[in-house]
Order: sequence, then structure tokens, then C-alpha cells
Amino acid sequence: MTMIGHNTSEQKPRSRYDVDLATTNPGTPGGIFIRQFWIAVHDSAALPAGRALPIRIMGENFTIYRGTSGKPQVVANRCPHRGAQMHLGWVENDDIRCVYHGWKFDCSGKCVEQPAEEEGFNEKVNIRTYPTGEHMGLIFAYFGEGEAPHFPPFPEPAGKGVIEVRPSTPVPCNYLQCFENSMDEVHVAFTHSPGGSHAKIAYDLPIITAEERDWGMMRYGKRKNGQVRETLHLAPNAVRVLVPPNFGMDGVGGWPDMVLIFTPVDDENCRWFATSKVFATGEELQRYHEKRKDMLTKLETARPILDVVDDIWSGKLVYEDVRHPMLARVQDIAVQAGQGAIANRESEFLGRSDAGIVAWRRILARELRTITEGGAAKKWSPLPADINPVMGA
Ligand code: FES
Ligand SMILES: [Fe+2]
Repeated sequence: MTMIGHNTSEQKPRSRYDVDLATTNPGTPGGIFIRQFWIAVHDSAALPAGRALPIRIMGENFTIYRGTSGKPQVVANRCPHRGAQMHLGWVENDDIRCVYHGWKFDCSGKCVEQPAEEEGFNEKVNIRTYPTGEHMGLIFAYFGEGEAPHFPPFPEPAGKGVIEVRPSTPVPCNYLQCFENSMDEVHVAFTHSPGGSHAKIAYDLPIITAEERDWGMMRYGKRKNGQVRETLHLAPNAVRVLVPPNFGMDGVGGWPDMVLIFTPVDDENCRWFATSKVFATGEELQRYHEKRKDMLTKLETARPILDVVDDIWSGKLVYEDVRHPMLARVQDIAVQAGQGAIANRESEFLGRSDAGIVAWRRILARELRTITEGGAAKKWSPLPADINPVMGA
């Protein structure tokens, strides 16, 4: 007998995506996919020599430290002896010593000292280590299987100038909705209209198209006057784009060439890392340094970004009226993390302006399906030096 109203699998609404696009947890297709790439894990300046810190990346905990040679090291978060947290320990030259019973590991992960044990026992013990590299003021690590890909994953933009790192920010949502926002050029005319940071490119709304490349996806935003803005989306989680100068930095160096990276902390949190080239030289560079000093002083006394975002979400602050040294970031986080810790992709109405997002989801879903089925995943390349973002205004 067929029961009326019984919910058979045929009657269930079909899910728009048959793979979990958002997760990067270890062992999941999304986790295997993202672990093929170098992942930005820390601001270089925030890791002085001799310091060890805990980090959480893609749902796993690690210890990062910098030894006296200056090279950053990433190791497992727990000591293989009895599981103490390694960042509590001592950095000794390029080695790290556990604070619990003094076992010491060199930077290849070999246990080289065990004060209370018999000689030779140490040869049986290793701590897991991960390859690292440092580029344009950021520390990267490789968490995948086999040999790490080419380093650095993107070149320093050509042209005379100075590297500017904007301090990294924790963001309480999944990395993918932030990466997707980077493909959404229409939002700048609305989200960033208070404060006017993007006024120069908000004069009309672009028609968006996108093309897959060996290194990710090239996206175009074409204006009615024929101008085309070109933005580079580097697989798996970074955008290279010309952006407005930081707060208080107008008038020096024009629009910086920025790489903004959305590193998953876990499925419901990410951290934004931003490094850029500011094209200022000579006297202009002098003025740049003065302005930047002022800006950093203002930033020190500014309210934490996430506190301001919370007040916007609760209605205490009116979005339109908010002012902050990193206003564009406040606005972006309010909107993107406001979509939910993991945005619901089943209930959206994607339109013409979402063409970049649709294109990336198609690429990502294809790769995750290939990984699920055990097929040959795409071989990605680092970004070549002759491909640069274009302002288009
Ligand atoms: S737990 Fe690290 S030395 Fe014992
Ligand atoms: Fe934005």
C-alpha cells in the first residue's frame, strides 16, 4: 500500500549542490582540495624570533614558532610524549622544547633530547612538521600530502614601491562566502557607499563575466563606458585586486595592488590576510610612511572590528553612520558574516551579477566531485608574473 503524503526520496527537493562546498575539515573532499595549496597562516610581523603561538587552520590546531635563524616553523600542536601543548614551550635556536618534561625537537621534527629517558629512545620519536615559506609579509604553510607546490604561490607585483601588510582580522564565518564576495563587484556600490571608500568605481554597475585559468579564475567587470576592471581570483582562497588606499592614506601611491587571502580557521571561522604593493617612491614614500604612522596610531585606539560589527547586528549602531579606521572591513564583515556562519546556498536567488560566484562554484564543485570519485584532480599553477589586475576606472 502506498501511503499518501509519505515523503519518499523522489519527492525530496533536489539539493542545488551534491558536494559540501564550504567545509575544509581534514579528510573531506573540500579539505583534500584546499590542502593542495600553500595556506597563509600568520602575519610575519606578529611572530618575532623566539616566540611560539597556537594557530588553528582548516579545523586543526598547530604550533607556529620562529627560531633564531628567522625561519618560521609549523609543527603539531601537541607533544608526542603525553600531549602537552607545544606553544607553551621554549624556542631554542631553531628547535622547540616541550614545557612538560623537556623533550626537544629540531625543525625537521626529530626528537633530539629527552632529559629523563634512556639514550636512543628519542630515535623512535618525531613531531609532525609542515613546510613553511614567507612572502610579502605573510607566513605560509603547506598541509597537504607529498611535495609542496611552487613557492611563492603568487609573485610580488612589479613596480617600485613598498609592501604594506594590513593586520589580519578574524572573521566569524566560513571562508567561502568571503572568497565569493571578492567575486561580487556590485556590492561595492552599496556596502561601501557609507564612507565612500569605493566611490571611484561605483559610478555605475558592471556586467560580470569570468574565465577559468591554470591558477584560478580571471573575472571581468565591464562598464557602460567600455572600461573593464580585471580581478584575479587565485585558487583556492585569494583575490588579487586594486583596492582603495587604507583609511587616511589617500593621496599617496594611488590604489594598492592587494592580495587578500581568506584562510579557513574552521568551518565557521576564517582569518583575512592582506598584503599589498603601494606604488610610492621618493618624497611620496616619505609622506606615505608619515601617514601610515598616524593611521596605525589611530588603529590602536579604535574599537575592535568585531565589537562594531556586533553593535551593527544588534541594531545598536546604524550601518550608515558607522565610522572606523578600517571601515570597509567593518562593512564587509557585517555583510558577509551576517549571512550566517555558513551561508545557506540552497535558498538563494542568484542573478546575472552573481556570474563570478556561479563560475567559481562550478569549478569548486567539479574538483570536489573528482576528489570524491577518486579521479584526476586539476593540476593548478602559481600565478605568472605577467598577469596583473586592472583598475578599470
Ligand atoms: S608531554 Fe612533552 S615532554 Fe612530556
Ligand atoms: Fe567589500
